Amino acid sequence: MSAMDSHVYGVSSKLFLTLLFLSLSISYAALPQNPVSKSSSTTQINSNSVLVALLDSHYTELAELVEKALLLQTLEEAVGKHNITIFAPRNEALERELDPEFKRFLLEPGNLKSLQTLLMFHIVPKRIVSKDWPAESSPSFRHPTLSNHHVHLKTHGNRLIDSAEIVRPDDVVRPDGLIHGIERLLIPRSVQEDFNRRRNLRSISAVLPEGAPEVDPRTHRLKKPAAPVPAGAPPVLPIYDALAPGPSLAPAPAPGPGGPHGHFNGMKQVKDFIHTLLHYGGYNEMADILVNLTSLATEMGRLVSEGYVLTVLAPNDEAMAKLTTDQLSEPGAPEQIIYYHIIPEYQTEESMYNAVRRFGKVRYDTLRLPHKVVAQEADGSVKFGQGDGSAYLFDPDIYTDGRISVQGIDGVLFPPEEETMIEKKTGPLVKVVSKPRRGKLLEVACRMLGAVGQESHFSTCQ
Ligand SMILES: *[C@@H]1O[C@H](CO)[C@@H](O)[C@H](O)[C@H]1NC(C)=O
Ligand SMILES: *[C@@H]1O[C@H](CO)[C@@H](O)[C@H](O)[C@H]1NC(C)=O
Repeated sequence: MSAMDSHVYGVSSKLFLTLLFLSLSISYAALPQNPVSKSSSTTQINSNSVLVALLDSHYTELAELVEKALLLQTLEEAVGKHNITIFAPRNEALERELDPEFKRFLLEPGNLKSLQTLLMFHIVPKRIVSKDWPAESSPSFRHPTLSNHHVHLKTHGNRLIDSAEIVRPDDVVRPDGLIHGIERLLIPRSVQEDFNRRRNLRSISAVLPEGAPEVDPRTHRLKKPAAPVPAGAPPVLPIYDALAPGPSLAPAPAPGPGGPHGHFNGMKQVKDFIHTLLHYGGYNEMADILVNLTSLATEMGRLVSEGYVLTVLAPNDEAMAKLTTDQLSEPGAPEQIIYYHIIPEYQTEESMYNAVRRFGKVRYDTLRLPHKVVAQEADGSVKFGQGDGSAYLFDPDIYTDGRISVQGIDGVLFPPEEETMIEKKTGPLVKVVSKPRRGKLLEVACRMLGAVGQESHFSTCQ
């Protein structure tokens, strides 16, 4: 202990106590779920370690969670072996901006594993300084984290990690690692899914069981409204039967809180993902279409409320800017284009990449019947469509919550039959991207977010 004392001389007493705790063998503490209790702590933490800096930094909420998650010893061992880069959410992101229900979930003792995964997802076992970020609009870098999930670094005006902006690059720099301040919490897929599962189970246990729903053979519709399906189980009808009749979408009634008979708030999830798209940068057109075509967003929200899952292939702004007036002017054209980009399955970058690696070509159904979209492996990524009309998976996993997945692509896709038709027409290029409209868009988006009483994480809304 005496070596320790001199190292920590002059640091705050809270930090001192923490270090004291660190240096004691944790196995004394009778912590049954301690993941590292098998190792005997022999590593000595250096007072200028990034770990010490974290505990004494202004990221007090994160530091507290790291302690609550019993991760100090694991991290101490990690910095003994290699540099680490910590992506530290601002305090506000962990206080009032975090869904209280989610926070409660994280702090329940039974969910320690989820809390640990979540925190380890913010740490990369490698030194990444701000000048290591990929250049503007080059593909994202994929980095493993201390959890078993990857993060993606990219630059879209600002430096980003997944969809969070780096607000304080190189905030704390130490010989064994550094801290970048980020604007919000990153939630790994498995933790989001655990949370959804738990939440759904809770709401389902309050629902009385009902008989199997009857399907009218003539209309393919349910004779009686369907009972909510258990979490994870597919809904009774295929998604096409549940879809409002097209081609111009029938305005679906806006679902009340929690949806008409749904146990998910699908509308909230759709708004969350539109919000994420806006925030991510480079997907304003797609977000714009979803905000403008409220019937489309409502329809998606309704489907998700009823238990359907969706993967949205979102073309980025550069791709959308290449659309011609001809392509957009037909009534219902924007809806048709978007519908061709929605897959009625929950797919992530990883699941699609694994599928194309294994099977070469994979056909996915789309909500634009009967057209399918083809995917294959190309250049270590997933390529959708064929020939000139193809698009690469450019920004993986922009949004994934277990029900809706959004994957950024660098082209607009058309069914192969149509593509040849379009090539013959030579419509004037319309500049879909225009700066001034952004203000209006933001206004609408903020109004939408405000209307659902959602506490906005969207600083531009204030
Ligand atoms: C951490 O990074 C620094 C600077 O790149 C390097 O000198 C040092 O050896 C690294 N430490 C470990 C444990 O790898
Ligand atoms: C969205 O609505 C605004 C205002 O009505 C309009 O100017 C804009 O072109 C629309 N955006 C798209 C992508 O349809």
